Amino acid sequence: MGKYSKYRAYKGNIIYSQDKDTLISKENSYILVLDGIVKGIYPALPEEFPKENVMDWGNNLIIPGFCDMHVHAPQFLQRGIGMDRELLDWLTTYTYPTEAKFKNAEHARKVYTLFVDELLRQGTLHVNCFPSIHYQASEILFDILEQKGLFAFTGKLNMDQNSPAYYIEETEQSLIDTEKFIEQHQNTSQVKPSIVPRFTITCSEKLLAGLGDLCQKYEVPVHSHMCEAVNEMKVVKELFPGYKNGAEIFYKNNLLGQRPTIMAHCIFMDDDVLALMENPNCLAVHCPEATANINAGGIMPVKKLLQRGINLAIGSDIGSGASLSIARAIANTIQHSKIRNMFDPQWEAVNLAEAFYMATRSGGRYFNQVGAFDEGYCFNTLVIDDSNMFGEELTPVERLERFCYAGDDRNICMRYLLGKEVEI
Ligand code: GUN
Ligand code: FE
Repeated sequence: MGKYSKYRAYKGNIIYSQDKDTLISKENSYILVLDGIVKGIYPALPEEFPKENVMDWGNNLIIPGFCDMHVHAPQFLQRGIGMDRELLDWLTTYTYPTEAKFKNAEHARKVYTLFVDELLRQGTLHVNCFPSIHYQASEILFDILEQKGLFAFTGKLNMDQNSPAYYIEETEQSLIDTEKFIEQHQNTSQVKPSIVPRFTITCSEKLLAGLGDLCQKYEVPVHSHMCEAVNEMKVVKELFPGYKNGAEIFYKNNLLGQRPTIMAHCIFMDDDVLALMENPNCLAVHCPEATANINAGGIMPVKKLLQRGINLAIGSDIGSGASLSIARAIANTIQHSKIRNMFDPQWEAVNLAEAFYMATRSGGRYFNQVGAFDEGYCFNTLVIDDSNMFGEELTPVERLERFCYAGDDRNICMRYLLGKEVEI
């Protein structure tokens, strides 16, 4: 057997983020992969490299699979409905009734299968899911993510107050079920459990404190929402008068920064909150489409957070977002930052390199070695065929930009997870 018999090589125009400011683009190059792990990128292969182990993708783009760092699996069928409502109104009118249906395991299996298939179709190979409160449905989601080979976090949602009678838990039971869920999924590799308090409004302090203890005991990440909408922030202040803001409530209950912490939205953050989020464990998730749809009252100052060194990623946040395309969310991130800049010129708009970084490498840190093509990273990859758009004269980076703005899932001609072709 030759030295390279177990290697695979993938040829094309390879693009990935080195850091927030730098896109690496290697035209007509080869990624060498061994057992699903990237070994390096080279302009040519050694003479003795077996031809049958080369997959030549020609002029196509080869990019890392996307990371969707905030998405509500049970809201998959609710997209685009009630978009004239404010957040809290939208939650009670549309979202809680939709999520309550996941008490039915058959329904959960059906919808979660469609949901995960659509993630893959859109090129999301790494996902941080928000589930429903139901134990069984949460197990079903976990299993489907595992079966389909994604890299994921998911848990069991917690809510024990300010929720309708048909969609609420007892505090003790919520903690017992959460601990059981985590124990069931110790030592898994690609899909991992997380702790998911919905937001402070629907969680009592007793529940939050108990979840903080579990977070410390099992060293699992936290996933929640904060600082999303003007009305929400007002209610948080009324409900928790002893605290300055939602971030402090999480922080003092061991749910912000003590372990990896993924917080959706983070739109309205004063200096105290920014300082808490500067912790390298924390990730703020920008969900541009959702922010516009549910009328939050503001747009995340992405550039400000990037400049402060706060970790940032992108989420589709369906059902307040409507599209599972993270490529589209990259374009939205750039567009929304330009709109924000018109009203607050202090913060520049973000560029493609920054938005692509948020959508790949930055979110990928939470899964370990995904979202880029450094040596040792997982070969979790998309091949983009944009030949329907022509453009021989464009650079690969220009073609990537065009794919984000004008392309769609039909341009994704192959997905690889750990070097294996994904069937969709
Ligand atoms: N805050 C609490 N729950 C939700 C939700 O389901 N969607 C959004 N966008 N914000 C929330
Ligand atoms: Fe959300």
